Amino acid sequence: MEYDFDNYLAEIPENSLKYDAIKATDSSDIYKFLSMGVADMSFKPPIDVLNALENEMNRGFLGYYGGIESYRKEVVNWLEKKHNWKPKPQWINTAHGLVAAIGTVLRAFTNQNDGIIIFSPVYHQFRNIIKANNRELIESEMIKENGTYYLDLDNLENKIKGNEKVVILCSPHNPSGRLWSEHELKDIAYFCKKHDLILIIDEIHNDLVNPENKHITFPKIGENFYENYILMTSTTKTFNIAGGLMGNVIIPNNSLRDKFKKANFATGETPNRFGMILGEVAMRSGHKWLDDLLKYLKKNKDIFDKEIKSIKCLSSMRIDSTYLAWVDFSKTGESENTNYKKLINHAKIISKRGSIFGLGGYNHFRFNLATSTNLVKESTERLRSVFK
Ligand SMILES: Cc1ncc(COP(=O)(O)O)c(C=O)c1O
Repeated sequence: MEYDFDNYLAEIPENSLKYDAIKATDSSDIYKFLSMGVADMSFKPPIDVLNALENEMNRGFLGYYGGIESYRKEVVNWLEKKHNWKPKPQWINTAHGLVAAIGTVLRAFTNQNDGIIIFSPVYHQFRNIIKANNRELIESEMIKENGTYYLDLDNLENKIKGNEKVVILCSPHNPSGRLWSEHELKDIAYFCKKHDLILIIDEIHNDLVNPENKHITFPKIGENFYENYILMTSTTKTFNIAGGLMGNVIIPNNSLRDKFKKANFATGETPNRFGMILGEVAMRSGHKWLDDLLKYLKKNKDIFDKEIKSIKCLSSMRIDSTYLAWVDFSKTGESENTNYKKLINHAKIISKRGSIFGLGGYNHFRFNLATSTNLVKESTERLRSVFK
């Protein structure tokens, strides 16, 4: 490996969500905490990305961004190379992050109190942005079978009331790392077609897949299957540049795209200069970093998995993608609140508690494993000593 991730760690600065999470513990010994809640990595981005930022600083130009065509070209190349799908450059719109983009889509295509469907437990900001836009949150709880989540479309079918307008699918799935099969993606497409729903597919974790696994990007199921989809991708998770707040909203359908563009324009969106530059450089020259990273993450996940398996009252889901571990604490016999307190006060580990991910999330905790292997090991030792 070219990148030695054990020694390629960024400092946690005071103006970061990770630091805020540590401060929120109100503890006096903040240096003892492992901050494994927020989903950004402990690693520096590829060296070319850091150099590009330095270059910008040296030139001293911090003005508005322009020249988006070269960025779009890199997105097309990236998706073709990594996901075997080649969008047209003009299908690609930019956004100030994908959560913001979801909000824009909701306002563009739905009205207040329209129903928005999500498959819970799922990335907590889906619920937040739906509620903040005064849409009706419709949670379709997934079925957990042999430690794997499955969509329950039959049950959802029975609950359809008629006000549903949009479905949001997280693919790969946060928090479980589940990769959806072609069959499952087709089932969702059929479902959306039947009920005339717009499908948002959030593929922000699309590149963070174990070397032996495969993510299927939604458009690969075939164009005639379903046209009314909005695909969201980004380089920010892949290359740990989430502070660059940018993302891609890819819409092949012309009328859908026009409508989104108008709504995006209405937000005053213009591309974030730094995010765009960092993203473009990363896609052009971050391949080696990403290959090495995926191997390193796999090692961390295997270690975490093995250690958690040996703690009787905890069970961790198999992690096929992402760098997030989703651990079920229900066999501890304690409430989520008590377990959360134990994690903070005794294990000194910050995680994300499951209930914020919606139905089915209660008493699970999500741990970010994108940190040094030593700290991952340390986290399992602390979990063992508190929850053995
Ligand atoms: C599924 C998913 N979508 C979106 C985001 C955040 O996207 P952004 O920072 O572009 O708003 C995250 C971050 O964890 C995520 O997991």
